[in-house]
Amino acid sequence: MTQDSRIRLLIVDDEQTIRRLCMTVGESLGLVCLEAESGEAALAMLDEQLVHMVLTDMVMAGISGVEFLGHVKRSHPRVEVAVMTGHGSVETAVQAMKLGAYDYIGKPFSPLDDLRLFLRRMADKVRLVEENLYLREKSETESSLHGIIGSSAGIQHVLRLISRLKDTRTPVLISGESGTGKELVARALHFRGSLANRPFVAVDCGSLVPTLIESELFGYEKGAFTGALRSKQGLLQSADSGTIFFDEVGELPLEMQAKLLRFLQEKEVRPVGSNHKVKVDVRIMAATNRDLDAEYKRGTFRKDLYFRLNVVSISLPCLRDRRSDIPILSAFFLDRLAPGRGVVLSGNAIKAMMAYDWPGNVRELENCLERAVALTDQRVIEVCDLPPGIGEAEVQSETHGPSVPVPVGGELRATDLEDIERATIQRVFSQVKGDKALAGRMLGISRATLYRKLKRYNIAAGALARSASALQ
Ligand SMILES: Nc1ncnc2c1ncn2[C@@H]1O[C@H](COP(=O)(O)OP(=O)(O)OP(=O)(O)O)[C@@H](O)[C@H]1O
Ligand SMILES: [Mg+2]
Repeated sequence: MTQDSRIRLLIVDDEQTIRRLCMTVGESLGLVCLEAESGEAALAMLDEQLVHMVLTDMVMAGISGVEFLGHVKRSHPRVEVAVMTGHGSVETAVQAMKLGAYDYIGKPFSPLDDLRLFLRRMADKVRLVEENLYLREKSETESSLHGIIGSSAGIQHVLRLISRLKDTRTPVLISGESGTGKELVARALHFRGSLANRPFVAVDCGSLVPTLIESELFGYEKGAFTGALRSKQGLLQSADSGTIFFDEVGELPLEMQAKLLRFLQEKEVRPVGSNHKVKVDVRIMAATNRDLDAEYKRGTFRKDLYFRLNVVSISLPCLRDRRSDIPILSAFFLDRLAPGRGVVLSGNAIKAMMAYDWPGNVRELENCLERAVALTDQRVIEVCDLPPGIGEAEVQSETHGPSVPVPVGGELRATDLEDIERATIQRVFSQVKGDKALAGRMLGISRATLYRKLKRYNIAAGALARSASALQ
């Protein structure tokens, strides 16, 4: 299901020799083996990693095996737990079974083959359950759940991942170019899953003013700084028991990355200006259109934070790599934009759209159809209703940068003005090679306004470089 579809076993025991022994046997069965030396450490791992089955000791320092089992069954009901019991502890074995343990095995393991057989049987059961779930999820996703449209292999894979992950609390990093549906996926993971009636809080890391991020996330006390007239709860606390979604997480300043990492480790927030920490339990999701893998290697993104966010990654295909979805997506949007009007695309319009590269992906497609629906009152959308740049009617611009569409019939519409604004911002933005501060000054608008407009028009440095070169 993730990069690796092998069964993952977590071994919990405070004795290193036992852990090593179990690891060796587990690995010989082809399982991915993880280890923890206490129930507490194991619970933390379960929150952060994908685990299918657990083998745990019953007598450990810290929380007992029974308590540990109870926690796992409550917060990760899909994880199978088997227990290891010492000599003559029949009662604990019985208690564990009552709490929903898969089975128990006596320690010491003699002969070792018993353990091998035990783990193999358990892994077989887990595999069977997983395969069944996979089939169920496959049929669920094929009937187009989640409001995410597409029948290409790329999207079907994404839908299966969503089905698989929606009822877990595993951190998910969603990557993909601008407009590919990252936020849509994050929302589907939350609202179609077991946290659906809990809060979903999206934090747009790209538009938060750097100096205010900490107080936004962690909250603040009255008088913590000038202007803090009363105390305010932070976004993390607002998301308690639900999901917090860090959109454009690559934009977080390094200093904030460190603070976020500490929060992920301690699961506590301390509002700015307060001495008290508050426990917060949230599922983490993040999205990025940057290559964080390269960034952490370069040192511009914290490696430890990257690994905490990227427990499972969902990478969204760009639209030009799944052109077969263009007709079905278009039909979906036309229906939504002009309900009941039965608007369709002409054969040539579809052809033109299939040939176009869609640097702005699904959002650009949606915008393009919105514009077409606004420009025509006909039932059939023709190539000429599509923005210049799409289709045979494309006229290459003489000037540098993206072309500004010429209004038809001398009448300037709101959408035309927007096109002009968009093209202007794009041109300036590519001239300054994505330097947002400089672009803002050249355009005479504030940084915040620029951020808003960049977002609105779906302008990103990567997409720009491509569209600029395509127009040369
Ligand atoms: N597969 C899809 N089916 C239906 N609608 C989609 C799909 N993918 C994206 N969309 C729509 O496209 C628009 C852009 O999606 P979204 O905001 O999730 O993209 P994003 O990857 O977060 O973009 P950005 O990086 O610009 O923030 C939204 O209106 C969304 O509903
Ligand atoms: Mg987004």
